[in-house]
Amino acid sequence: MDYLDIQGPCALKGTVKVSSSKNASLPILAATLLYPGKCRFTNLPELSDINFFIQILQSLGATCEEGTVDASSIESYQADYDLVRKMRASVLVLGPLLSRFKQARVSLPGGCAIGSRPVDIHLSGMEKLGANIKIEAGYIEASCEKLVGAKIVLPFPSVGATENLMMAAAYAEGETIIDNAAREPEIEDLANFMTKLGFSVEGAGTSTIVIKGRSVEEMSSIEVTHEIIGDRIEAATYIIGALITNSTARVEGFKSVHLDIVLDTLKSMGAQLLIEEDAVEVRPSGQLSGTRVETAPYPGFPTDAQAQLMALMGVCKGDSQISEHIFENRFMHVPELARMGYDIKVDGRVAYIKGESSLKAAPVMCTDLRASAALVLAAMAAEGTSQINRIYHLDRGYAKLADKLKSLNVNIERVKQ
Ligand code: UD1
Repeated sequence: MDYLDIQGPCALKGTVKVSSSKNASLPILAATLLYPGKCRFTNLPELSDINFFIQILQSLGATCEEGTVDASSIESYQADYDLVRKMRASVLVLGPLLSRFKQARVSLPGGCAIGSRPVDIHLSGMEKLGANIKIEAGYIEASCEKLVGAKIVLPFPSVGATENLMMAAAYAEGETIIDNAAREPEIEDLANFMTKLGFSVEGAGTSTIVIKGRSVEEMSSIEVTHEIIGDRIEAATYIIGALITNSTARVEGFKSVHLDIVLDTLKSMGAQLLIEEDAVEVRPSGQLSGTRVETAPYPGFPTDAQAQLMALMGVCKGDSQISEHIFENRFMHVPELARMGYDIKVDGRVAYIKGESSLKAAPVMCTDLRASAALVLAAMAAEGTSQINRIYHLDRGYAKLADKLKSLNVNIERVKQ
């Protein structure tokens, strides 16, 4: 298994361009199943999660080559356990398959490292649209004679449920209203893509999304092209990378407005940031001050940037606190960070981070995607060479991480084994 060697402390300089968003790409790839024609993507990120989702589309009969997906002839409505268990986002094929073909059989995703992550909100929303849903032998079996638009009030603004229900509603008869919908920028990107396919989706980015259903017969099959939005979480990671090493970097290729709360938090800690519409420049900021942060659905502080911020908090002046409200077990980076000299206590969903830790390199192990990013950042600030193991977690969500960090002057090597 490959690992990363990072020799710290590093001094960043230069410019990095983030890739397109993983979390926008996955639902958009799922939405290609709604369309009886070819979809072309100009910038799919080079990530194992994307390759993997493409395998699922192929297993259903879609033709996928060189950034295109053609789901005009689908042969199977079943996503197998062997595929789904590798990536929870696979459950996003349920909504589009059910909507277009009136049937779908998708393996029930299990829990994952960061929490149990049920899909009850996805399923009860589809039932509201008229689907019959059964769980049989570990599979979600969904079918319907037809779906009929309805008002669905989500008990929690789940990102995946909002996306799955937007797609399920695409061919439902009449109007569907999703209330208390998630407002993440990735949902807006999905709505923009669905609009290009010919669907009527309004209100994405607010908590009320309205979809006017179409019939399969009215769809065209003209090739559609889409460019996916930049990855705000990747951007946040590199910005924090410059701050944790008290150095500079210019991070481009994403909408800075999508990171409003992260940038505000960093500024309140003393970060010197030059914020442009599509880029953020980190200036030398000295030692930042600790703070308190609570993760929340967008536009709140993203859970996906929590681990990276925690790595930064450990070298700040004064103590910090993070309350994790989205996932029940998202502090797995804490014991690994402790190996590098962090002093963090966890009590339930709250982590108390001691400031001004003196960081020393250590061999560490990745446990999930964003936890791994925190370890990389810590290694960049720690004295000596850290070995980061199990980096397949990083490959899921950070395209060309080692190359990009190298271009920012980080002493990093990806060692093949
Ligand atoms: C998406 C993102 C993930 C991010 C998360 C929260 C993708 C591919 N992944 O995950 O990176 O961390 O949003 O911003 O976009 N829940 C239920 N029942 C449901 C659905 C969700 O209880 O039916 C719970 C989950 O267990 C979790 C919380 O709601 O505790 C948030 O989940 P959700 O917003 O659905 O996250 P994902 O779409 O899985």
